[in-house]
Amino acid sequence: MGFFDSAQEVLDKGVSAAKGAVSGVAVEQQAFMKGFVRLCNDGWNQGWHERNGGNLTYRMTPEEVSSCRTFFYDAPSSWVALGVQADDLRGEFFAVTGSGTHLHNVALDPDRNAGIVEINSAGDAWRIVWGLKGGGVPTSEFPSHFLCHAVRKRVTNGANRVVYHAHPTAIGACTLVLPADARVVTRALWKSLTEGVIAFPAGVGVLPWMVPGSSELAQATSRQMGTYEAVVWAQHGLMCAGTDFDATFGLMQAVEKAADVYVRARSMGGGGEPANVISDEGIRATAAAYRLPVNEAFLD
Ligand code: 13P
Ligand code: ZN
Repeated sequence: MGFFDSAQEVLDKGVSAAKGAVSGVAVEQQAFMKGFVRLCNDGWNQGWHERNGGNLTYRMTPEEVSSCRTFFYDAPSSWVALGVQADDLRGEFFAVTGSGTHLHNVALDPDRNAGIVEINSAGDAWRIVWGLKGGGVPTSEFPSHFLCHAVRKRVTNGANRVVYHAHPTAIGACTLVLPADARVVTRALWKSLTEGVIAFPAGVGVLPWMVPGSSELAQATSRQMGTYEAVVWAQHGLMCAGTDFDATFGLMQAVEKAADVYVRARSMGGGGEPANVISDEGIRATAAAYRLPVNEAFLD
């Protein structure tokens, strides 16, 4: 039995006890929370989350909020200012990882290492309505997640619900060598992995190094999220958005796989640009075959 299966068994036991006290399906047993927990565990297993690195947020549907309400705190926490504001997210509820959380612990203790926060009617503050027990607070990158959710909700007509931040090694290494330029980094990735243009046809955004958790990083990331579902933070990590947990995790994997191939090829070649890469015509033809709107500005 794998780690995740045993963690799930622990959860199942805990939850059946809770069911005796409160009617309804416990938060930990609802599909969205199972997906949330699973992604945290999968990311940990990829080696993307040293220490407390990385974080995850999910914008809940109104149905999910209703089915969780019986488990919400009678007295939520007080409101805490976000430092950023979004009209599009007034009154929304988010599942969030806690700041300082080691993501492999989320499966074992979801209501301590993760939680649900409500956004106020002004769209500029949160309060805890479930979980984050023992004084926990949402991830320090919540301002970035929040503004990315606002933009992705708008540009996808509400389809995007997941924002995920991780610290994968290869894409981080790329930013030590390549300039913080979306076109340069996207071309390196597209030309290294055939599936690259299929997974991220718009390309990836790239930001220069900025202070983690800052509103400046949040503003800059969200501006890029208008165009890209994936934004690289130089010397730090990657932010991905998507409709569901699988799509978002898969995007993170595809970017990191392309970066890994690129890094290995450069290393084998003594540090220079790899010689036998996919041509611009090949990338264009792949996008056409899959009827994907490739970002032409990134092709020669
Ligand atoms: P948190 O522990 O606050 O989520 O921060 C981790 C991180 O990756 C910061 O960029
Ligand atoms: Zn980080």
